[in-house]
Amino acid sequence: MSKNLRYYKNLIDESFIGNILIKKEFTFFLKEKLYLKDSDVYINDKERNLSPGEEDLILDFINKKQNDFPLDYILNSTKFYENEFYVDQRVLIPRPETEILVDYINNYEFIDKARILDIGTGSGCIGISIALSNPQLNVYGSDYSLNALKVADINREELNSDNFYLINADWLSCFRENFFDIIVSNPPYICEEDKHLKNLIHEPREALISSDSGLCDIKKITRQATNILKKNGILVVEHGFNQSIEVRKIFEENNFSDISILKDFQNHPRVTLGVF
Ligand SMILES: C[S@@+](CC[C@H](N)C(=O)[O-])C[C@H]1O[C@@H](n2cnc3c(N)ncnc32)[C@H](O)[C@@H]1O
Repeated sequence: MSKNLRYYKNLIDESFIGNILIKKEFTFFLKEKLYLKDSDVYINDKERNLSPGEEDLILDFINKKQNDFPLDYILNSTKFYENEFYVDQRVLIPRPETEILVDYINNYEFIDKARILDIGTGSGCIGISIALSNPQLNVYGSDYSLNALKVADINREELNSDNFYLINADWLSCFRENFFDIIVSNPPYICEEDKHLKNLIHEPREALISSDSGLCDIKKITRQATNILKKNGILVVEHGFNQSIEVRKIFEENNFSDISILKDFQNHPRVTLGVF
């Protein structure tokens, strides 16, 4: 016999004692995935019987949350900048800090037809957000993970991002010299020993971890960008809140000038940019 919604709300309470966030997540899930109305969720939960399909979805939610699965993966959706992006375990879930990088580019005064490259595009969140805000530009997104590129392609199509092009590449190894006006990246920058990694077990490791205290990929990108950027081209890289001194040094060693830093919502230095 089918159970009502109240039964599952009680089950959530009993299964996640002391977890304040879970009720909010469950409510959001019920509205987003089961399309339930507020009146069903809050008032008529005792009368609202669930179909076998709905029960399966709720049991799957409970099972995944017991394994600390992020809600965005359960919903296959996340909000970034001005749009909803499809996400699954093939890509990193876009973070709000990364929006400052997009905002910087969207407020930049471009020359006509500037070429922009987003390397390590993952879900495509950076490149697509820039492409949608700047339809006159050609924006390219690259990743060495074919799985990530499949997700970026879903978002490109869903969001009708016609001026966003995908490329499979190991950082900047396959691009023409002096080709791009701007290169942006949110590369992996977490050090292998970082204690926060134990909270990120469901996201792809290759999207998170970099050797050399988290700086190996930033070093590669900065060095390679010196060949691929046009004269006066700009490199914009996100990094950890405690890496800005090292990243500035890497930019200086590679002869970037006008180096500056963007801070996140908590006033942490999170993005370094420089002119080549
Ligand atoms: C931190 S995630 C960023 C994803 C997305 N840009 C975002 O901001 O949410 C880093 C991305 O870099 C990609 N990546 C890692 N190593 C790479 C390499 N050698 N060449 C190109 N992409 C790489 C990963 O597959 C992953 O998608």
